[in-house]
Amino acid sequence: MSTPSLLILPGDGIGPEVMAEVRKVIDWFGDKRGVAFDVSEDLVGGAAYDAHGVPLHDDTMARAQEIDAVLLGAVGGPKYDDLDFSVKPERGLLRLRKEMDLFANLRPAQCFDALADFSSLKKDIVAGLDIVIVRELTSGVYFGEPRGIINEGNERVGINTQRYTESEIDRIARAAFELARRRGNKVCSMEKANVMESGILWREVTQRVHDADYADVELSHMYADNGAMQLVRAPKQFDVILTDNLFGDILSDCAAMLTGSLGMLPSASLGAPMANGRPKALYEPVHGSAPDIAGQGKANPIACILSFAMALRYSFDMGEDASRVEQSVEKVLADGMRTGDLLGPEGGKSSSTTEMGDAIIAALDASL
Ligand code: IPM
Ligand code: MG
Repeated sequence: MSTPSLLILPGDGIGPEVMAEVRKVIDWFGDKRGVAFDVSEDLVGGAAYDAHGVPLHDDTMARAQEIDAVLLGAVGGPKYDDLDFSVKPERGLLRLRKEMDLFANLRPAQCFDALADFSSLKKDIVAGLDIVIVRELTSGVYFGEPRGIINEGNERVGINTQRYTESEIDRIARAAFELARRRGNKVCSMEKANVMESGILWREVTQRVHDADYADVELSHMYADNGAMQLVRAPKQFDVILTDNLFGDILSDCAAMLTGSLGMLPSASLGAPMANGRPKALYEPVHGSAPDIAGQGKANPIACILSFAMALRYSFDMGEDASRVEQSVEKVLADGMRTGDLLGPEGGKSSSTTEMGDAIIAALDASL
């Protein structure tokens, strides 16, 4: 295959800081493993707005369509709160997801042993946790029409539409079943079939896909509100959770806390295979731009580094190297290194963003 290409979009807030640590890991693969990536960098979100007046320039969008994998930091910040909705930083990210048709968002929530004490839940509830949320990413209420704020009589009305076609449900259900087969072989699908027609259709199509082509996978259905409760009550009952765009957004933040910190969670957003066989792909941490700590060297780079590990696994077929990165992170945590977000109520010494990145590089060196 050709030289693997990466488009890096650091974005806003802590995005550039955590991405700088990912760059070290990318360079490490060039220096120590002989895997050189063709890396380019561009702007997204508020950073793109400042430069071009739009949260994603058309040229950047075009480059993203050509690249093997996009790595994104984070978008948004209070500086952009008053911007018109159409040019808000988040619109840049949503445009990438939509135009690249990245319908399958994989959000693993794994609790590293060393962090089991740091979750807000009791240790035995989360120790050894290993689940993946498969979130539909290009449809549902995020993109449904009609939408907007309209005038009705003497007041305004805010409108969004939850909308799913059978084919959209079909393809995301398949993605979840395929993933489950490579893991614990269990899918729990979450919707609100008790109050939403889109939920009724979601349940029906998921069951149909299962019965036709994935009868070997264990499938269950759950209302999403109960799912939220079960996630904090007994998260280890799950293997793969399949859900829509909005429920997936909410449930994945909830799942993130099970792992000790939002600073730990990577994600992969995958679309259809391109001509070279690699899927359209964007990798990003689940956490946001964290403006309150931006620029202070406090951010945890692990979620972003683990997102790069997901790129190695899903875009570049380098599963062993992905595991090498994941094990290096685990080792550094086991050695007791913590960024501020990983300190429990008892406190302790916190390391900076760069110290964490350097320690992970040292652990990678030691893995050779
Ligand atoms: C996420 C984020 C995004 C979302 C925002 C930044 C648009 O919360 O990736 O979970 O709502 O999808
Ligand atoms: Mg979110």
